[in-house]
Amino acid sequence: MTAHPQNFFKNFIKNLLKKKNPDEFLEQSEQGGLKKTLNAFDLIILGISAIIGAGIFVMIGSAVIGTDEHVGAGPALVISIGLVAIACIFPALCYAEFASMIPVSGSAYIYTFATMGEFAAWMMGWVLMLEYAIGTIAVASSWTGYLIKLFQGFPFLPEVMKNPPVWLINDYQTALMTDSNVQIPHILGIPICFNLPAMFIIIVIAAILFKGIQESANFAKIMVFVKVAVIALFICVGAVYVKPQNWTPFAPFGIKGILMGAFAIFYAYIGFDAISTAAEETKNPQKNLPIGLIGSLLICSIIYCLVTIVLTGMMPMGQIDLKAPIAHAMNFVGQDWFAGAISIGAIAGLTSVLLVLQFGTTRILYAMARDGFLPPVMKKIHPKFKTPWVITVLSTVLMLIGSLFINMQVAAELAIFGTFTSFVIVCVGILMLRKTEPDRPRPFKVPCCPWFPIIGIVFCSGLMFVALREVETASKLFPLWLVIGVVIYFMYGYKSNRKQELLKVQHVEQIDNNKEKLTEKDLI
Ligand code: ALA
Repeated sequence: MTAHPQNFFKNFIKNLLKKKNPDEFLEQSEQGGLKKTLNAFDLIILGISAIIGAGIFVMIGSAVIGTDEHVGAGPALVISIGLVAIACIFPALCYAEFASMIPVSGSAYIYTFATMGEFAAWMMGWVLMLEYAIGTIAVASSWTGYLIKLFQGFPFLPEVMKNPPVWLINDYQTALMTDSNVQIPHILGIPICFNLPAMFIIIVIAAILFKGIQESANFAKIMVFVKVAVIALFICVGAVYVKPQNWTPFAPFGIKGILMGAFAIFYAYIGFDAISTAAEETKNPQKNLPIGLIGSLLICSIIYCLVTIVLTGMMPMGQIDLKAPIAHAMNFVGQDWFAGAISIGAIAGLTSVLLVLQFGTTRILYAMARDGFLPPVMKKIHPKFKTPWVITVLSTVLMLIGSLFINMQVAAELAIFGTFTSFVIVCVGILMLRKTEPDRPRPFKVPCCPWFPIIGIVFCSGLMFVALREVETASKLFPLWLVIGVVIYFMYGYKSNRKQELLKVQHVEQIDNNKEKLTEKDLI
């Protein structure tokens, strides 16, 4: 018998909006039995580990001087940084409320499932892939830039390492942009052009994650220490070379430049939300999560402002380098030895960001697979290492393929769009949950609700809309990404989720039958 079209439609809409009760997630996480070991300091380290990377070591250059697609802020980037810090602080508070209320892994994907239902949750997971997986491609490309810069500091290294062929350190598009006369080798008509160092580091990090996160935790702490020390040194040494006349004109492209600078430097803030993915492993999450989220945001904002002031004061705006601006600034003032040290700090910094982004990619996809959105094989946990190994391998392969086609600038812009979208949705989610579940215990509450979440929504969506009109490639690819997400959901995710529900019901019925049988037998 076929269902009545009206009923079918009703069920269909009901399924799309079906929410998962936060208690279900809590139950799931209790069964998972992760150890609660992290304190506020650990969370701040995790935040800095995820935040300081390509944004400050690379993107700061395009945020100051602009790119082919958009203008830059000039020395007024400090104002852009202030704007971005404000745009982030409100979503950070919302993340803190959610994470203290539902302290489980999965971050914004889980919060959306609890507040807006299945379809929105899928789309959120899909958008988070822009932030984490596509963001990985951008950071890995920046990693290449600083690796070469480091090699160039060692005169005894072979020439191929100091000046590798363009087709070995770029995606195809960037290779052609870098040098239109470049000779790219072809095999069977296929151009052989790939970013070898970027692919190498993505595979190394995947191998570490395959083996387990524990091993890398202390390694990450050392890298955070190295990158912060190097930045602190840059600020102190660079300050000596600051010439105040370089700060004029302060905002060469006016308000538009400041807003586009804010959009470009937003990349430097991506990742602080990764702290919320550690909620399940945090001691006293209601107190420590807000400290971790807000603390790391404030510390990084101060660092970014100081770096911007020093960098833009050290040289005229037109001389700032796009690929390795901080190291180049030291070359500019004749401190070549220090440029080498900066490259080491940048490589350490970018590696720690990659660790967090690739970790986030696997854990969000794992949470989606657990909910039946992805093929069951993706839920597989490695028997020895206890890590989601199928997801780790698969996502790595996809990122490697992506790195062949997506250039760093576009990947970074897409990651920014993805992050803005997730921030807006998390703010909306807080407003919704306050209405639908006003009595649910909230160990941490966003102050001045509904105003703070509303300000977060206005700031983030405002910056996103300004940018959508300016950045040509990413603003076309972003809607395309959303459409692909919708198509995959209806072609696979929706049906697969219904199948999983059916299996669950059958499983419960089976348990009930067994119970009944047991009672009958017992009675006999
Ligand atoms: N915020 C991170 C970085 O700048 C993604 O690399």
